[in-house]
Amino acid sequence: MLGIDLGNSIRTAAIRDQDPLAADTTCFNLRQYNEHADIPALTAALRGMVPTLDAVAGYSVEACVAAMRDLGMVLGSIKRHGPEPVPLAPEVVPVLHELGRRTDMVPRDTVHHYTTWNPVGGRQRMYTGDIQEAYLQESVRMVFPHLREALELAGLLSDTDVAEPKFADLTDELTGHVEPMVASIDMVVANVSPEFFARDLRSYFEEITVDGRVLLGPAAAQVPLWLIDQAVWASDHSGPEYQEFLRDSVPYSLPRWRELYDCWTGVPSVVTRLVAAYGDDPDGAERRMPGLRPAAEALARLLRVVLVFRGRHLGIARKAYDADLRLYPVGSGGASVDLLRQITDLTRASAQLTRPRGGSAERAERRPA
Ligand code: HEM
Repeated sequence: MLGIDLGNSIRTAAIRDQDPLAADTTCFNLRQYNEHADIPALTAALRGMVPTLDAVAGYSVEACVAAMRDLGMVLGSIKRHGPEPVPLAPEVVPVLHELGRRTDMVPRDTVHHYTTWNPVGGRQRMYTGDIQEAYLQESVRMVFPHLREALELAGLLSDTDVAEPKFADLTDELTGHVEPMVASIDMVVANVSPEFFARDLRSYFEEITVDGRVLLGPAAAQVPLWLIDQAVWASDHSGPEYQEFLRDSVPYSLPRWRELYDCWTGVPSVVTRLVAAYGDDPDGAERRMPGLRPAAEALARLLRVVLVFRGRHLGIARKAYDADLRLYPVGSGGASVDLLRQITDLTRASAQLTRPRGGSAERAERRPA
């Protein structure tokens, strides 16, 4: 663990500014190369960009991230048109390993590189140049700063007794940082057609093999809503497939988030602690612990927001992976639309567990959120 905080806003701005491979023009030309499926041009671009290890040794951490971003754009572009990219430029392998090591990330670009660490405006790296791709990039860019806050708040929640008065406030604060996920998916539904995603963009997020290791592409499935789940309910109310998806996704996240995943695995979830605090005598529990009812209500509000996101997300995912439209049976994260449905059902089941239990439960349930 190198203790690098790659997610803070100052560092993010510095990374966006960087062009260590002098690749601004090449990255802009990618759109054209991709339009023409010009594999020779893409291969030449990649070979022209790969730095020497000596050059990498002189890079700052920010430059390492930016170099990975730009190499990743070309690697994903080549794969989209068929060939595994690494054998076309084997000299990239030690560089990917070194950039991964220096940044404490996987030896490939991730969704962070493709969105948050990607410059905006004229220098924006895009596979297609289509405005719909820009909307998808923005949809992720707009949620990351909030998820960063949300995950730290989830950390505080994990350490807070459910009956403590501050529990409900912390949960509401967390909910405020999950709400942008709903705005994000609404923006995508309004501006990105399932056809564009299925037929044009999805192929750029294919996995590639680096030194025998299969690495997933930089898609939104790496957005760690699932890590909030892990703290709130999924550490002990999940299903085997969702846990496997989580385990496969965690390596692509930031070092701090991988640490949080370790902290939240194998420990009772927040929802489990709430249920235990209510015990067999809900009314008595609420009398003894006045903080309990507000905590349950706040958790219900949080899970309702997560469910709204998941419901709308499932809607667009179903359309994009409809058998008549899709080119791939599963998402670039390796998961099916059926898993998305399962995750939604699991979230709903956990939300049920947070329903007020005391004598005035019915009245509370009728209250507007
Ligand atoms: C055209 C738009 C989209 C489609 C077709 C789509 C499709 C999918 C699919 C099929 C999965 C399953 C995992 C996998 O990829 O293998 C997935 C997972 C996921 N996607 Fe999307 N997605 C879209 C947009 C977004 C956006 C805009 C966000 C958030 C900003 C997002 C966040 C997630 C998350 C967090 C997961 C993990 C599962 C979960 O937590 O519910 N997706 N998506």
